[in-house]
Amino acid sequence: MLKRNRRLRTNEAIRSLVRESLVTPDDFQAPLFVVEGSGIKQEIASMPGYYRYSLDLLKNEVQELWSLGIKSVLLFVKVEAKLKDNRGTEAINPNGLMQRAIKAVKETLPEMIVMTDVALDPYSEFGHDGIIENGEVLNDPSVEVLAKMALSHAEAGADFVAPSDMMDGRILAMRNILEQNSFFNTGIMSYSAKYASAFYGPFRDALDSAPVDAQDIPKDKKTYQMDPSNRDEAIRETLMDIDEGADIVMVKPGLCYLDIVRDLKNNVNVPISVYQVSGEYSMIKAAAEKGWLDHDAVVMEQLTAIKRAGADFISTYFAKYAAKLLQR
Ligand code: PBG
Repeated sequence: MLKRNRRLRTNEAIRSLVRESLVTPDDFQAPLFVVEGSGIKQEIASMPGYYRYSLDLLKNEVQELWSLGIKSVLLFVKVEAKLKDNRGTEAINPNGLMQRAIKAVKETLPEMIVMTDVALDPYSEFGHDGIIENGEVLNDPSVEVLAKMALSHAEAGADFVAPSDMMDGRILAMRNILEQNSFFNTGIMSYSAKYASAFYGPFRDALDSAPVDAQDIPKDKKTYQMDPSNRDEAIRETLMDIDEGADIVMVKPGLCYLDIVRDLKNNVNVPISVYQVSGEYSMIKAAAEKGWLDHDAVVMEQLTAIKRAGADFISTYFAKYAAKLLQR
């Protein structure tokens, strides 16, 4: 044998010297769920070890994240049922929960990069990302509201808006409204390749945002989120979003879509984020609870795999936990 590959695996010293992909807290963005009230830290039933926070406790959480080296959060709000309607009216309330959450984080830690979810589902009485008429999720009227929502987040102090709605033309509409209002430095992280995935279930529990089961309401999001069978379409969607002004693009979910991550890495030259979604988190938790998998090892293996596939950073519910593991 002229080549013996095991030589480079002999011990940890040589393995670490030739290691290709590494995860560090610099790679993590922490999604955070916010609720109305005070003194609230509520565990999400289908996401063991993950919580919804009221604004006061959100501040502590953000400080802890920063102390662990996590420099970005992605905010989501759980909206009270009485504030939901078909047009997402509450989404553009300058004093809404999201707008107050943005301010709370920026007041606590101005350096923390605050990104905000832009989509109507938490605000929609029907649990859809846009406005519904005659059983259809309308595109252009939804984009109009979503652009106003993005502006409202920018006004509250968001560093980046993160549209997760998958309507056509929303990035351009958001870029335009931000420019017109002199928010030249507000970034857009586009959920550009977001699939109609069954892995979002626990997230919809967390925000009580699942599509409602009623006549004339689409029971899934397949008319706007992408078909899991498609690969070329992800490149098309993403290139369009970059043309329309996206600063960062995203693939979501993570693990089942790592081929897409690599396709994009080879085809675009803007940063790529990957969202390791709620179902991916909960699967690991459930298997570990049963004693079937080594929790910590699987967490690090998956995060590393996402990095290796081409992610520049990862939105993950393991952000805080993995940052602590890395400190050991
Ligand atoms: C809503 C939104 C979803 C997620 C992020 N933003 C759910 C959905 O599209 O139904 C999923 C995140 C997760 O599962 O962790 N637009």
